[in-house]
Amino acid sequence: QVAAATGHTVVLVDQSDEILKKSTKGIEESLKRVTKKKFADKPEAGAEFIDKTLKNITTSTDAVAVVHSTDLVIEAIVENQEIKNELFKRLDKFAPEHTIFASNTSSLQITQLANSTTRQDRFAGLHFFNPVPMMKLVEVIKTPMTSQKTFESLMDFSKAVGKSPVSCKDTPGFIVNRLLVPYMVEAVRLFERGDASKEDIDVAMKLGAGYPMGPFELLDYVGLDTSKYIIDGWHSLEPNNPLFAPSPLLNKLVEEKKLGRKTGEGFYKYK
Ligand code: 3HC
Repeated sequence: QVAAATGHTVVLVDQSDEILKKSTKGIEESLKRVTKKKFADKPEAGAEFIDKTLKNITTSTDAVAVVHSTDLVIEAIVENQEIKNELFKRLDKFAPEHTIFASNTSSLQITQLANSTTRQDRFAGLHFFNPVPMMKLVEVIKTPMTSQKTFESLMDFSKAVGKSPVSCKDTPGFIVNRLLVPYMVEAVRLFERGDASKEDIDVAMKLGAGYPMGPFELLDYVGLDTSKYIIDGWHSLEPNNPLFAPSPLLNKLVEEKKLGRKTGEGFYKYK
């Protein structure tokens, strides 16, 4: 959405037409929200902006068939190293020489993903934040193999889509998630111990620390499955780090398919 809105040609790829339809609808809704503010006094210009943006987006269920004409691939599939490696390995065979591969992973090592391809110098992390149309940050992750040219191209691309990039080494969680995920899981532990209610913890962090959402609201927003994959992955890397210890309550909710806003229930219920 943000790439298309800033004049880039985008091919959105997913597993089924049904998912793509849902994604396109989500983009349309989000564009309406952005436009309402940006073109408050000029509804016609707003309608034109939405139309132009949507025209920049086509969809496909066949990544291999479309990758031959892309300059940049941004992968944002399930948070699983093997599945991501498999996808990158396949795309590497069909993508042009110059194409840069980037992963939007929240927690996995970019170096390991890059090693599934033959283009380690044209591979980096490009990490956006929910909701992407609103959050101004992008983390650009350089591995020891990422070339300076690739790094600079991604910094330029981030600015071209209206974001403020920061850079970080290829360490677990980069900057934001390394601080945010342990904080959110600590909030769950506080609640699990019965020290405070989740409602009070959310109110406390909003009114006492100025966060726009409390940790439970944010966990539901990010997705409890994604949060669990992140903490589980780090726990297997550093089993003795108490900050990365899995949470029984988080595990239970994921097992019950209560994944947050996207399934209608997580820590809270949604209509
Ligand atoms: N698309 C377009 N616009 C959106 C939007 C979306 N998806 N979501 C919210 N907005 C807009 C609204 O239209 C509204 O615009 P307005 O000011 O013109 O009315 C504005 O954002 C504010 O929205 P709301 O009034 O509905 O609610 P809030 O004031 O609470 O703001 C929020 C919503 C921007 C999401 C704010 O609550 C927030 O900043 N929350 C924290 C988000 C956060 O921490 N994100 C990081 C998550 S970690 C992550 O993504 C990393 C991953 O790897 C796990």
